[in-house]
Amino acid sequence: MTEGAREGSMRVLVVAGARPNFMKVAPILRALKAGGHQGVLVHTGQHYDARMSDAFFRDLELPEPDFHLGVGSGSHAEQTAGVMTAFEPILREVEPRWVVVVGDVNSTVACALVTVKLKEELGVGIAHVEAGLRSHDWRMPEEVNRVLTDRMSDLLLTPSRDAEPNLRSEGIPPERIRFVGNVMIDTLLHQLPSARERNYAGAMGLQRDGYAVATLHRPSNVDEPEALATALAALQAVARKRPLVLPLHPRTRKNAERFGMEDELEALTVVPPVGYREMVSLLEGAAVVLTDSGGLQEETTALGVPCVTLREQTERPITVTEGTNRMAPWPLSVEGVMGAVAAALEAGRREPGSGGPEGWDGKAAERIVEELAG
Ligand code: UD1
Repeated sequence: MTEGAREGSMRVLVVAGARPNFMKVAPILRALKAGGHQGVLVHTGQHYDARMSDAFFRDLELPEPDFHLGVGSGSHAEQTAGVMTAFEPILREVEPRWVVVVGDVNSTVACALVTVKLKEELGVGIAHVEAGLRSHDWRMPEEVNRVLTDRMSDLLLTPSRDAEPNLRSEGIPPERIRFVGNVMIDTLLHQLPSARERNYAGAMGLQRDGYAVATLHRPSNVDEPEALATALAALQAVARKRPLVLPLHPRTRKNAERFGMEDELEALTVVPPVGYREMVSLLEGAAVVLTDSGGLQEETTALGVPCVTLREQTERPITVTEGTNRMAPWPLSVEGVMGAVAAALEAGRREPGSGGPEGWDGKAAERIVEELAG
């Protein structure tokens, strides 16, 4: 690796591992380049299927990763340890000024943990993008990843104002915390014209406001037969009134097969995991979205589309207080979900961009790079 040619230019190692990371790193890499800095992209390979990874690289115009760790699936310990072992020599080779980790997946915490141990030796800092989100549910692997990553980070870049009190209450020094806004929305706004052009929903014969979209992949909803049966029954009930498109996550597909629940999928319009533009096209035209994903809660708020979250709590409460999201009553039941869907449909859609959360404006990545350079 050569030193950046321009004075003041930094070398920044950016980590991406799983699907929700890809839309967060794309604008950061673009903003680094625009600022004359050197972004080095490491793909851990946590997600590896063409539909979970390659399709996103293409849609998001991501460069080929400089390093691919090829770690793949496994238990949490195997996956985290695999990323750590493969990442350490790369960190030593690249010697960046910053390691930027995003979100809350196993790759995020793994790379932060490697970096914090080499911090003094290499003079490297850790910046966490999407810092300070909390579900306060320690049973979620993502919550463990968030809390530990924030504790190890030197620069905590928050997507919404409500994140800072969470960090302060954990004793994070306030001078490390910077509000930058939501980088997912940078990607959404950047890709919206191409998603509209792609018009995946139209090509599927779906009428605007005439269908629902759902996603389901959280262990708490899909890893136990009873939980998955309830969630699928709720989706079937919604699908009785309008087509319901379910891009099926590999984890959920495997579990549905294992539990013999293929029949429960029949009433739904099941499609394989879709690319970014296809998903945005589906979301934008939907009457209602049902999801246990974090990113979709944010994207529906930015698009003004009603969303029902199929979880006990959300680490993104701002999508409820300032956006279009509402929580389905917990524990999930067919009646509870139907009630939440009826309320969401009653509330209807909002003009996109009208009064959304502060800093969800398409410029978060620029602010991130300013903070890294500052
Ligand atoms: C991971 C993240 C989760 C994120 C989700 C988005 C953690 C702890 N979880 O969960 O926060 O919301 O990604 O998708 O990091 N699989 C494939 N192909 C792939 C990837 C996964 O078939 O490309 C299958 C494998 O059987 C694997 C299972 O899905 O065991 C789960 O994958 P994994 O990366 O462990 O977790 P996700 O459920 O995807």
